[in-house]
Amino acid sequence: MPQSRSFQVDCQHRVAFTRDVFDPANPALAEVLSQSAERRLIAFVDEGVAHTHPDLGTRLEQYLATRTHAGEALPSLRMIEVVSGGEASKNSMSVAQQVLAATDLHGIDRKSFVLAIGGGAVLDAVGFGATIAHRGVRLIRLPTTTLAMDDAAMGVKNGINHFGKKNFIGTFAVPWAVIADELFLHTLTDRHFLSGFSEAVKIACLKDPALFDAIERDASRIRARDYSAAMPIIARSATLHLDHITQSGDPFELCEARPLDFGHWAAHKLESLSDYAITHGEAVAIGIALDCEYAVLSHLLDAEIAARIRNCLHALALPTWHPLLMRVDHLAQGLEEFREHLGGQLTVTHLRSMGSASEVHEIDHAILAAAAAALAPRASP
Ligand SMILES: NC(=O)c1ccc[n+]([C@@H]2O[C@H](COP(=O)([O-])OP(=O)(O)OC[C@H]3O[C@@H](n4cnc5c(N)ncnc54)[C@H](O)[C@@H]3O)[C@@H](O)[C@H]2O)c1
Ligand SMILES: [Zn+2]
Repeated sequence: MPQSRSFQVDCQHRVAFTRDVFDPANPALAEVLSQSAERRLIAFVDEGVAHTHPDLGTRLEQYLATRTHAGEALPSLRMIEVVSGGEASKNSMSVAQQVLAATDLHGIDRKSFVLAIGGGAVLDAVGFGATIAHRGVRLIRLPTTTLAMDDAAMGVKNGINHFGKKNFIGTFAVPWAVIADELFLHTLTDRHFLSGFSEAVKIACLKDPALFDAIERDASRIRARDYSAAMPIIARSATLHLDHITQSGDPFELCEARPLDFGHWAAHKLESLSDYAITHGEAVAIGIALDCEYAVLSHLLDAEIAARIRNCLHALALPTWHPLLMRVDHLAQGLEEFREHLGGQLTVTHLRSMGSASEVHEIDHAILAAAAAALAPRASP
């Protein structure tokens, strides 16, 4: 008999929501960097953020200099580098390679820091580099999109796309800290701003009917970029994701069920089939609509609930259909890729009622085709 030991590892997942993170009076970043005077820090900035926040580098330098001058033991900033933004950052090894090269050049050890500032894609790609360098240096994420704040940055996953498949290469690693600063969201395009709310709809459907009510009620204010309506929803979604990761008992996805991936099997396939013309958030909206319609046709979900979810997504200007849905052979391939990525038996999360879901292990391709067809826009008479 082989020897078998069970052991636990205690992890800390530090998350803060703040405003104006580089204001020297704001303690959020200094708090997670404290007691590390002999350490070093390198920062990577999403090009979309670098263009819209041209003073970011200077403000980061001034932030650290001011607080160090005031007596805090902070790491020395060795480099700030701009990396390509959006899905392009995940479609090759080059961003991860930049992180590895800078880690080597600037002598970043495992107690030093990599600061990743950007959307979900840049956080995934920089995070991947940081978590394979020396088997993992300290990674601090500053999410700058709605989706990165309400979902991606809260997770413990990093990765890049390969072989035309989403997140084919990647790591599980708990970030040192996550700091979400609302002010970054002000420079997002409307499309990327709204995209992130599909993840809030997703987790609301799964876990929090009251959050769904709030999104439904405030959708037009969110669309008009009313931050007093948008931020509580982003923060609540982030908390629900964080709670799931830290409390569900399966942060590193060793089990087959992956409830947070509701709507995602189709989403990942649509993203790669469209060559990433569809954003992740939009693809998730379509994937949620498809899985809900499938559940209705399989008598698992009330048609009224599915219609309510579709209407809510439409109110957020999110799509619920794409012509690529008509290729059921491609969708079936997406299911198999999803199964392979999870390992083991195919496990798809289906909503049963608002706030409650269950797993199914088989998808009927004829019902899938009917669900896709039912979502197609009707030609006007
Ligand atoms: N690791 C995880 O657990 C996890 C979870 C969910 C999603 N994701 C991944 O996140 C990615 C999607 O992330 P996203 O929706 O944040 O989009 P994104 O990272 O693709 O960014 C969208 C665009 O916005 C730009 N941008 C970013 N911040 C900006 C700002 N403040 N101002 C102006 N422009 C800005 C980027 O340069 C890019 O062009 C997908 O690759 C998805 O797979 C990962
Ligand atoms: Zn997602």
